[in-house]
Amino acid sequence: MWGSIFSCAACCLAFLPKIHKLSEEEKEEENDTQIKMADSIPLLTPYKLGNFNLSHRIILAPLTRQRSYGNVPQPHAILYYSQRTSKGGLLISEATGVSNTAQGYPETPGIWTKEQVEAWKPIVDAVHAKGGIFFCQIWHVGRVSNSDFQPNGQAPISSTDKPLKPQIRANGIDEAEFTPPRRLRTDEIPGIINDFRLAARNAMEAGFDGVEIHGANGYIIDQFLKDTVNDRTDEYGGSLENRCRFALELVEAVVDEIGADKVGIRLSPFADFMESGDSNPKALGLHMAQALNKYGILYLHVIEPRMKTPGEICECYDTLVPMRKAFNGSFISAGGFNRDLGNKAVAENDTDLVAYGRLFLANPDLPKRFELNAPLNKYNRATFYIPDPVLGYTDYPFLESA
Ligand SMILES: Cc1cc2nc3c(=O)[nH]c(=O)nc-3n(C[C@H](O)[C@H](O)[C@H](O)COP(=O)(O)O)c2cc1C
Repeated sequence: MWGSIFSCAACCLAFLPKIHKLSEEEKEEENDTQIKMADSIPLLTPYKLGNFNLSHRIILAPLTRQRSYGNVPQPHAILYYSQRTSKGGLLISEATGVSNTAQGYPETPGIWTKEQVEAWKPIVDAVHAKGGIFFCQIWHVGRVSNSDFQPNGQAPISSTDKPLKPQIRANGIDEAEFTPPRRLRTDEIPGIINDFRLAARNAMEAGFDGVEIHGANGYIIDQFLKDTVNDRTDEYGGSLENRCRFALELVEAVVDEIGADKVGIRLSPFADFMESGDSNPKALGLHMAQALNKYGILYLHVIEPRMKTPGEICECYDTLVPMRKAFNGSFISAGGFNRDLGNKAVAENDTDLVAYGRLFLANPDLPKRFELNAPLNKYNRATFYIPDPVLGYTDYPFLESA
């Protein structure tokens, strides 16, 4: 998740369409037009993602919503995810903790206990019932935590013992305090990797179609990858190869557990979220894209270089194209896309699929709206992370009801 301030980045319109009842003839005509339009809309062309037949390329990006009380997914998530499901559409779940040391924000879901696995099942079933494909994003925050979230009030764990500075929360008022982390000993690292392996197994048990390993946005994997954070002197620190070792061993473990065809990973080499920038993001991104080929994973999901800080689109000349070319599997791009940018990226073969965060959060029927080129609901940042089971969660209107 993003624990900081968001500014309005993508262009959203507050206007909503007028509804007019169509005759049967008009409906047929409209259907024909829509089919023709879909043919010419790159985002709405089908795509074969490994064993999954996607009917379009508009992906629900992972979005932390902080409505999983006590780290247990709640029944209100059934409606939330099923609202955002389309037949043949891919959804990626909100970041989901792999263990009791993985949490750093209130009311975020986990997948390390039987109770959590059982609680995910009806949510996954609802997505499947509407023909969706659902991946679980598995997560460990590392040092982006404080002792209140940790078992026995212990210090959060990380690649480093360098603390994070306090940060303004999403509401723009409160400050998040972070407890200085404890640097993991080399012999503890296999245990953390094993937590990801078990979480992946649990995700499959819950019925998910696969997992996305959260290697982005300054959380534990990124804390190993990035040279401004990772100051280790063992085989997990120093050279580029060493800094990537944790991520790659973790990928290997998850692949061994559930199969490469069910594994994706998310990276943000260019970003500097949670004080986790890198001095050479191009080399880091390219090295990871090449190294991941060894494991034959399903997809690589990368955040665009223009998203340096949360919610702020920067002018940027870096591109993900070298990573996209170097990686043999499917590629998902995310960050600051609107309809036109998404269509362009697919049309120019810069990516296979586009993940939408804030636009999908506020528009449960986003693929339909893109198909019709309909106006979009505006997202409300103030309700991104509140615990309300309805407000800002399942009450964004559909086109028909607007
Ligand atoms: C409310 C909110 C929660 C988010 N939670 C996550 C998350 O759990 N995991 C993750 O990888 N990214 C998370 N992100 C980042 C989004 O997945 C996405 O990369 C970001 O919003 C940029 O895409 P957009 O411009 O389409 O919104 C979150 C973003 C928002 C706005």
